Amino acid sequence: MNRTFSSFDANNPVSGAFDGEWMGSGRVGTVVSPVTGEVIGKVAVANAEECDKVIASSHHAFQQWKLVPAPVRAEVVRRLGQALRDHKEELAQLVTLEMGKPIGESLGEVQEMIDICDFAVGLGRQVGGITFPSERAGHRLMEQWHPLGVVGVVTAFNFPVAVWAWNAALALVCGDTVIWKPSSKTPLTAIACTRIAAKVLEENGHPAAILGLVIGSGRDVGDRLISDKRVALVSYTGSVATGRYVGAKVQERFGRTILELGGNNAAIISSKADLDQAAVAVWFGAIGTAGQRCTSTRRLIVQDEIYDSFMERLMSLYNQLRIGDTRSREFMMGPLVDPAAVETMLHAVETARQQGAKVVLEPRKLPELGESYITPCVAEVTPDMGIVQEETFAPILWVMRYKTLEEAIAIQNGVPQGLSSSLFSNDMLECERFISAAGSDCGMANVNAGTSGAEIGGAFGGEKETGGGRESGSDSWKAYMRRLTSTINYSGKVELAQGIRISTEPATK
Ligand code: UN1
Repeated sequence: MNRTFSSFDANNPVSGAFDGEWMGSGRVGTVVSPVTGEVIGKVAVANAEECDKVIASSHHAFQQWKLVPAPVRAEVVRRLGQALRDHKEELAQLVTLEMGKPIGESLGEVQEMIDICDFAVGLGRQVGGITFPSERAGHRLMEQWHPLGVVGVVTAFNFPVAVWAWNAALALVCGDTVIWKPSSKTPLTAIACTRIAAKVLEENGHPAAILGLVIGSGRDVGDRLISDKRVALVSYTGSVATGRYVGAKVQERFGRTILELGGNNAAIISSKADLDQAAVAVWFGAIGTAGQRCTSTRRLIVQDEIYDSFMERLMSLYNQLRIGDTRSREFMMGPLVDPAAVETMLHAVETARQQGAKVVLEPRKLPELGESYITPCVAEVTPDMGIVQEETFAPILWVMRYKTLEEAIAIQNGVPQGLSSSLFSNDMLECERFISAAGSDCGMANVNAGTSGAEIGGAFGGEKETGGGRESGSDSWKAYMRRLTSTINYSGKVELAQGIRISTEPATK
């Protein structure tokens, strides 16, 4: 088991491209753990030719993989899920070391991978179409779902393994092949997953090129991947700015995209809420993964009459927060992903102050722990401040007040992003209004549950600048397949739809 990851060390570069063979003749990048500040690996990334080779191999592998029956493909996914169970602890430790999230959260992330595999196994016997009544006698109208092609999966550092698994497990069952381009900040976890997956594919007699990997810069590798016509679908998770570019670039060639872009998620705390429970959920939403989830709680909208009592509860949780080496279970929060993220956070807080924010919990760097460590920030703001409209990928919570639920919903919806949202209330009418058409405009709206921590069974994604894509559960699999509509005529004669008559008589004068 150790062999999977034991080759990662500060001195020997490992290969960062895979199409059944490991390659990597590009630049050698260094991976520094935000937890320890130490170099934990070196990766030789893909050059342009190697990226092309990975695309060609994936496209080639697709021609065979698409012909394997879906339940047989699902069996491979079942075994992948088993391999992930075997490696759960080891993979979680690597996630924590490479990007800094607490070990408990990393174990949860690997669990998400296992869960989506289980989900996809069941899909192996469900990715079917339906038949419709035909308007013509002796005809059948039906649809089937067929494999789509090569799926380019571009993932971010914050969920360095789960988001690949959401895509890969569905893509495999759907008969697609995958090329993964992970964040350059988290190449080791991607290499580890690819090694695990390659072994499973090979042991089951399938080409390992079905799950390919290209690590490299957006310019060298990312651009090739999104521009290449052989890549039928690009599933991109990342910033709005890059998503806008990716979306347009793929659309230019009429490729498909699934976009999972920024979130600016709000929790509304009604005076009808259980304030103790709500405080815990908001606190975790804001500091979990050091505020670096797409689903992190970034805005808090609190009803006037309970504002002081709620904030008192919340601040007492912040005061208990233990920050430290996330390899130990003692700490709920660790470092941000790198020192640059700390500077971005401080800059956002400064901007907020200039726009009139009142900082009630001042962020403080923790150099004694390392360059990427900082304490979280809570600031009182008004909804119109520019900085509150933006997603800052850091543990900052912007707090606002409201009087009526309509006002709270308007504040919650009044940002460009639309991923996740929460209402805390025990008033049934409020809860129903929040999830109605007049309520939250996000892709996800929770009641008495935080903005983060979605289960894999539902579709994951959001509206507006979040990009509209859906991944993971529900019927998200449909995005990974090609829909084929067929009319079958068993009447023995030709008949047109819409009542149009065919005349074979010669035209009369
Ligand atoms: C992400 O932040 O990109 O809902 C994914 C959640 C996790 C997934 C987040 N299950 O917070």
